Amino acid sequence: MNEKNILLCVSGGIAVYKAADLTSKLVQSGFSVKVIMSSSAVKFVAPLTFQALSRNEVHTDTFTENDPSVIAHIDLADWADLVLVVPATANMIGKLANGIADDMISTTLLATTAPVWIAPAMNVHMYNHPAVQKNIQTLLEFGVRMIEPGSGYLACGYTGKGRLEEPAVILEKVKAFFSPGNSVLKNRTVLITAGPTKERLDPVRYFTNRSSGKMGYALAEQAALMGANVILISGTDILPDPKNVTCIHVESAEDMYQEVMKHADAADIIIKSAAVADYRPKQVLDSKMKKSADQIIVELEKTTDILFELGKRKKHQFIIGFAAETNHVDEYAKEKLKRKNADMIVANNVTLKGAGFEGDTNIVTIYHKDGTAKELPLMSKTDTAKEILREAALKLGERKT
Ligand code: CTP
Repeated sequence: MNEKNILLCVSGGIAVYKAADLTSKLVQSGFSVKVIMSSSAVKFVAPLTFQALSRNEVHTDTFTENDPSVIAHIDLADWADLVLVVPATANMIGKLANGIADDMISTTLLATTAPVWIAPAMNVHMYNHPAVQKNIQTLLEFGVRMIEPGSGYLACGYTGKGRLEEPAVILEKVKAFFSPGNSVLKNRTVLITAGPTKERLDPVRYFTNRSSGKMGYALAEQAALMGANVILISGTDILPDPKNVTCIHVESAEDMYQEVMKHADAADIIIKSAAVADYRPKQVLDSKMKKSADQIIVELEKTTDILFELGKRKKHQFIIGFAAETNHVDEYAKEKLKRKNADMIVANNVTLKGAGFEGDTNIVTIYHKDGTAKELPLMSKTDTAKEILREAALKLGERKT
C-alpha cells in the first residue's frame, strides 16, 4: 500500500476520536495519509494529534498557504488516490451534495477527481431526516461511496443508526479497494444478460420495458475488473460497451435465448439481470400496420423463459436470477429461486426510492438456495454489482472445497 495516498477529511462530531485511530491504522498499513480538519473537528481533537499520527501537516484553513509553490486544496485534491470523509457530518454531506465550497474540506472535495467515500456519523434522527437522506442519495448518484453507519448506542444518548463504522472495518474496505486480490474471478467465465428486450409488432413498432441495463453493465464491468472472462448479452444500445468485455447485442427474447444457450456451457457463472419480455406479438407484420379500427387486439404469446431453461439444464454453472417486484418481494423471490432452479436471486422492490430502473443506485436483497438472505443497503449499482459478484465467488469457492 506504500504508494497509495489517502486524504482523510475529518468533519466535526464526537466520532473524530475514531478518525484519529483510523489515521494510525492506515499509516501502520503503509498508506500515506494527509489530514484536513474542519473548524468543528478541531474542537474535539487537536490537529497536533493527527499531525503526530500521520506525520504530515494538518490542513484546517483554505487560506493558510504554507507552501507558495502550490495551492494547498488543489495540491491535496490531486495528491489523493482516495478521499475519505470520516466522520461525515450532516453538514458536510449537505455541502458536498449541493456543491458548496466554503471551507478547506468542502473546497478540496469539489476539486478532487479521486474516488470519495463518506462515513456518516450523527444522531439517529438527523441521519433519518429526509434532507440528509436526500443528500446521501444525491452523493451516491454522483458516484460517492458510502460506508454505512452502524446501529447501537450513540454518544447523544440515543440508540439507533448513526454510529461511525469501526476504524478496523473502514481500513479493511480501503485495503480491499486497493488490493490486487480483487481478482477473485480469475479464470472464471461469467455470462451476463442486461437491459430490456424488444418484441417486434411491425417494422416500426415494438413492445419493450423500462430496464436501462445499468445493473447488468455494472456487473459486467466489475466482473472484468475481478479478473473474469466476461460475455455480456445486451438488449440495449444506449450504454457504451464495458472495457475488456465481449459484448453481443440482441433485440428480442428469442435472440437472447439463442445467444445465452450458445455460451452457457462455457460459463461458470450466469447472471440473468436482463428484463426479458414475458410475451411477444404472436404475429409480426412485414409492413407497417395501418390505422383503421377504433380498437385493435394484439394477440401475444409467451416467450421462452431463459432462466427456467438454464435451471433445467444446469450442470456446473452457478446461476443468478433477478426479481424486480412491486410487492411481496420476499415471497416472489423465494418462489422464483425454487421454480427456476437458480442458485441465487437478487430481488429489489422497484417502487422504493433509489431502487428503480433508470437510476444509478439500487437496494437489493440476495437470496441463496440454502435459505439465507443478505439485505444490502442503498448503494451505487457499481457497489451492488461488487457485492453480488463477491457472494457468487464465495459460494463457488465453497462448492469447490
Ligand atoms: N427471465 C428469463 N426469461 C424470461 C423471463 C424472465 O430469463 N422470458 C428471467 C429474468 O432475466 C430474471 C428472472 O427470470 O432473472 C425473473 O424475471 P421476472 O420477470 O421477475 O420473472 P417471471 O418468471 O417472468 O415472473 P413474473 O413476471 O410473473 O414476476
